[in-house]
Amino acid sequence: MRVLVTRHLFPEAIEHLRQGVDVEYHDCRDGLTQQELCTAVRGQDAVICPLTDRIDASVIAAADKLRLIANVAVGYDNIDLEAASAGGVMVSNTPGVLTESTADLTFALLMATARRLGEAERFLRRGAWKFWEIDLLAGRDIHGQTLGVFGMGRIGQAVARRAQGFGMRVLYHNRSKVEVGIEEDLAATYVSMEELLERSDFVTVHVPLDDATRAVIGPAELARMRPGTILINTARGPVLDTDAVIAALESGHLGGVGLDVFDDEPAVDSRLLRFENAVLLPHIGSASIETRRQMCMLAVENVLAHARGDRPPDLVNSSALA
Ligand code: GLV
Repeated sequence: MRVLVTRHLFPEAIEHLRQGVDVEYHDCRDGLTQQELCTAVRGQDAVICPLTDRIDASVIAAADKLRLIANVAVGYDNIDLEAASAGGVMVSNTPGVLTESTADLTFALLMATARRLGEAERFLRRGAWKFWEIDLLAGRDIHGQTLGVFGMGRIGQAVARRAQGFGMRVLYHNRSKVEVGIEEDLAATYVSMEELLERSDFVTVHVPLDDATRAVIGPAELARMRPGTILINTARGPVLDTDAVIAALESGHLGGVGLDVFDDEPAVDSRLLRFENAVLLPHIGSASIETRRQMCMLAVENVLAHARGDRPPDLVNSSALA
């Protein structure tokens, strides 16, 4: 079996992969162009790629033998799932291993935004700290506040658990209610989207990007939020309507934003850079060394399972098998 790896991964994952299959390894950090991807997939039985590769219908059409795309991410909006399924190409992701690290980063971002850490550090580094002042860089409390979790999957739940430890009230909205036992455990209350927006001091987004969630936080949703609400997004950039977010920052209606994800990464809308109350990170939600290593290993495990003739354990489109 031949496997294409499109970008630099942890070396131990590549070594492990090489023990089971033939590997064409593009050990580069800037990735392949769409044209290069189309050429490179020919003759490959599987592809391991990060979320930055756009595996669209043209790449899938160019592949003559491909049976599996192992995405090194839990989200797989970078892959045209319909085209993959129609072509009998399985897609796998890396769920579970990144839940806690992503929730850690979400909480770090929430705290950094509320307590103005980015702004405070910039202030100190430029030598602006001349004296202690009673209201110097005074931010917002976290304890005692209401957190609205939009998307109560694994990551949303892990964020809610942290919020509980910080003495926050937790509301959530999700396609469906989670089990009562989980709600009780997290002390989280299911509410409508409208109620979540109206009652939260902080809103944090944890939904996957798909047709139903694209720009789901737009002008109407932002207007429903209380003045001063802080919005956090570690899911996918296009879930927010960026123009609407910028307008709400400009008007002062939003109290701040913490963003780890953007519409057109690695490009960042330059208008966001103007706001001191925007904390902006380069998509590092899962980026602890151990978690990123485990993500690489899990993608490899999915490919090796396929090489053994087994179903990849993290298959997301069983319709490809039909
Ligand atoms: C990261 O964004 C992921 O989906 O794993």
